[in-house]
Amino acid sequence: MLNKVTVLGSLNVDTILQIPRLPQPGETLAMSDKRNAGGGKGANQAISAARSGAKTSFIGKIGDDENGRMMLSFLKDAGINTDQVTISGKGTGQAFILLQDSGENSIIIFGGANQEIKEKDIENARETIQKSDFIVTQFETPSDQAKNAFKIAKAANVVTVLNPAPAHKNVDPELLKNVDLITPNETEAEILTEIKVVDELTAHEAATRLQELGAKNVIITLGGHGAYYKTPTNEKLVKAFKVNAVDTTAAGDTFLGALVSRLNKDFSNLEESIIYASKASSLAVQKVGAIPSIPTEKQVLAALNEE
Ligand code: RIB
Repeated sequence: MLNKVTVLGSLNVDTILQIPRLPQPGETLAMSDKRNAGGGKGANQAISAARSGAKTSFIGKIGDDENGRMMLSFLKDAGINTDQVTISGKGTGQAFILLQDSGENSIIIFGGANQEIKEKDIENARETIQKSDFIVTQFETPSDQAKNAFKIAKAANVVTVLNPAPAHKNVDPELLKNVDLITPNETEAEILTEIKVVDELTAHEAATRLQELGAKNVIITLGGHGAYYKTPTNEKLVKAFKVNAVDTTAAGDTFLGALVSRLNKDFSNLEESIIYASKASSLAVQKVGAIPSIPTEKQVLAALNEE
C-alpha cells in the first residue's frame, strides 16, 4: 500500500460523442459513435490513485438516480472508501464530450450534485482528511469547500494538491496560500497567470507567477511535450512518452492520481513520480473514455519495464 489519498471532487457520467471535427455555428453534423462512461475529474483522479495502489477515500455528492448509483459502484469497485459520498436532491453530474477523430476533446458539463457540497460535508469528513497523506481537489466542486478542506489538511500536516480545472481567473488567495502543489495544464496556467505557455521558458515564467500567488510547488502538464515542474529549489521539463492518442479525456486526471499514489510528502522523489505518472497518462490516452482508460499499477510498471 502506498500513500493515503483523499479526493474531494466531482462525479460525472460522461456521454462521449465521436465526431470528425467540431461543427460550425448553424451546421448539423453526424456523429460516428456515442457511448457513456464514468468520469468527472474527482472520480478519475481518485480511481487513478487507487488503481496505482493508494489507499483512497472520496468526498463528493451524487444524485438519487441511476447515474449516481453507477458512479458509486465505480468508486467501490476500485476499492475507494465512499463513506463521505452523500446524496443530494440535484441530479448526478454529467459531461458531454465532443471527441474529434484527431483525439482532441471539448467538454460541456452539468454540475448538478457536485455543486451541492457544503461546509457540513467537509466538517463530516474532517477525520478522513486528517488521516491522509495527500488531499486532492479541482474546480468542478465549490472552491469555498476546497478552501475549508485545505485549512483542515494544513493544520494536520496533510499535503494539499489543487488541480485548477476547469480554470477560472482570480482564484481565492486564501485557497492558494494553502496549496502545496498546483497542477494546471498549459491552458489553465495561462488563464491563471495571463502568461501563454508555449515552451520551457514560458512554463518557467508561469510557474514562477503561480509560486508568487502562493502555491509552493507547480507542475504544468504540457500534453505531448511532457510535464514541467518547479519546486522552491529545482525545476525541469520531464519529457512525455510518445504515443498515438485516441482520446485525451482524463489524461491529466490519470497523471495526477498516479503521481500522488507514490509521491513522498517531502517531494524528494518528484521526478521519479512524474515519470511514473506520465507513463500512466500515456496508457490512458490510447483508450476511449475516462474511467475505462485508467491503468493499474501493474500495467504502468510493465509498460515502464518495456522502455
Ligand atoms: O478531466 C476529464 C473529465 O472532465 C471528464 O471525465 C468529464 O467528466 C469532465 O469532468
